[in-house]
Amino acid sequence: MSKNKGDRFYITTPIYYVNDYPHIGHAYTTVACDAAARFQRLLGNEVFFLTGSDEHGEKIEKSAKQEGETPIQLADRVVERLKKLWVELNMSHNDFIRTTEERHVKGATQFFHKVFAAGDIYLGEYEGWYCVPCEAYWTETQLLEASHCPTCQRPTERLKEASYFFKMSKYTEALLDHIKNNPEFIQPTSKRNEVVSFVRQGLRDLSISRTSFSWGIPVPQDSKHIIYVWFDALTNYLTAIGYGSDEKQFNHWWPANYHVVGKDILRFHAIYWPTFLMSAGLPLPKTIYAHGWWTVEGEKMSKSKDNFVDPFDMVKKYGADAFRYFLLREFPFGLDGDFSKNAFVRRINSDLANDLGNLTSRAISMVEKYRDGLVPEPSGGQERDNELAQRAKECAQDYTQAMQALGFEEALKKTWDFIGRVNRYIDKTKPWQLAKTADDKDRLDQVLYNLIESLRIVSILIFPFMPVMANQLRQKISLPSIDDRSSHGYLEEAEQWADTNSVQPQSKVHKGEPLFKRIDENLA
Ligand code: MSP
Repeated sequence: MSKNKGDRFYITTPIYYVNDYPHIGHAYTTVACDAAARFQRLLGNEVFFLTGSDEHGEKIEKSAKQEGETPIQLADRVVERLKKLWVELNMSHNDFIRTTEERHVKGATQFFHKVFAAGDIYLGEYEGWYCVPCEAYWTETQLLEASHCPTCQRPTERLKEASYFFKMSKYTEALLDHIKNNPEFIQPTSKRNEVVSFVRQGLRDLSISRTSFSWGIPVPQDSKHIIYVWFDALTNYLTAIGYGSDEKQFNHWWPANYHVVGKDILRFHAIYWPTFLMSAGLPLPKTIYAHGWWTVEGEKMSKSKDNFVDPFDMVKKYGADAFRYFLLREFPFGLDGDFSKNAFVRRINSDLANDLGNLTSRAISMVEKYRDGLVPEPSGGQERDNELAQRAKECAQDYTQAMQALGFEEALKKTWDFIGRVNRYIDKTKPWQLAKTADDKDRLDQVLYNLIESLRIVSILIFPFMPVMANQLRQKISLPSIDDRSSHGYLEEAEQWADTNSVQPQSKVHKGEPLFKRIDENLA
């Protein structure tokens, strides 16, 4: 994994279906990838963060018909909304790929060719139970009662059609070996174990073409067949970085460091995708990370309950940064969790307005009040100061370790431990008393310097989660803004205390507006 400055880091979200409006689930995966991408840029690594849309297949064709539009009209409309959401949530992706773009169609076709040329595709006949919403075939034994889909619980259809098959069975052992030899390949470990027990039963050959509809990429040399939408969609991770069009660029980025996906689509990423890649002779991604699912106020989100959390609403009501913070702070990535409005408002009030907001305004107000808004020169520390500096360094190190493994919640906890520590440092050093006697001038200088220096470090650590607030905080203490997409080793600077890249004495502070306002729980 990318630890060294100057490494390349390629991270992807799933590409989202265009038959649905974006909800909290889509926002979750994308916010997580954004935080990971921003963190890697803070390490000084060169980052490519990819997201996009999955636009082909029977499901999209059917939805478009219901809406009285063509599939591409539907796709254009929903993609616009997705893109708007990513702007509102301050996503720092480097590219957005649509599977209807020519660069994708060309690359996906070439990838199909490559697997065909490897002798891994043959024409056969498929008969099975097909779930249109999941775009997946199921065997009799996998179905729930009354032939319902084991993933989404909706009815499946019995289908029989001529189909091209991919010889997935051939790769059972190779896949098991790869998983065994690369413990980081599927994360978290619990999910890895699930995949291993599934693959151990032996893989079946996979139907990878359809003849029952036409919205998709035709099979080369047999255009009656449309390439199975998952085969088509998975190749976006290659085509977006130049597969089939720009070899140099492709070799620069591939293999990906992370494919981040929800647990429901792990099977496609951890089984189908690696076997396709093996067949095409390409290296496998380093890690496939499956995160958990959100319920809402204790219930599963569903159309019938109409309880989808609309991310646009959340941004409008509470702000993008607070929403991003809540998504990644509430429970560990990889587990399931619940969205409740009360829990969200409580976090805004306690973590953001109280802990972080108060620390910022207390520290800056005191520099304004006792030193005319100019950061004083540090005078030489006492044990308590050295301890604070030591804690800052440890915090930055623990944070880095957690973030390398997508441990967002852990990284935030460490950061908030430090914020709590700085708040207690104020209570212990009592600057308002030091300000009363001239003898304590040097001591007060040191304490105030330490507070602003602590805020500098906090501004770096919160940046991947709350980029806007991080930069507002930096502005208040006259530090340059951190750029959304450039790489710079700020994290290394966060481990250094009172050094060349630290807060400079005599720089100006401005209290300005509070970073976060408390929310009245009764009005939320
Ligand atoms: N198009 C496929 C992915 C192809 S990737 C080559 C797809 N799209 S999706 O729009 O249905 O879902 C995208 C992501 O949203 C998935 O990772 C899924 O897990 C996630 N979520 C959908 N509902 C969710 C929750 N309730 N909670 C968390 N994430 C959820 O699948």
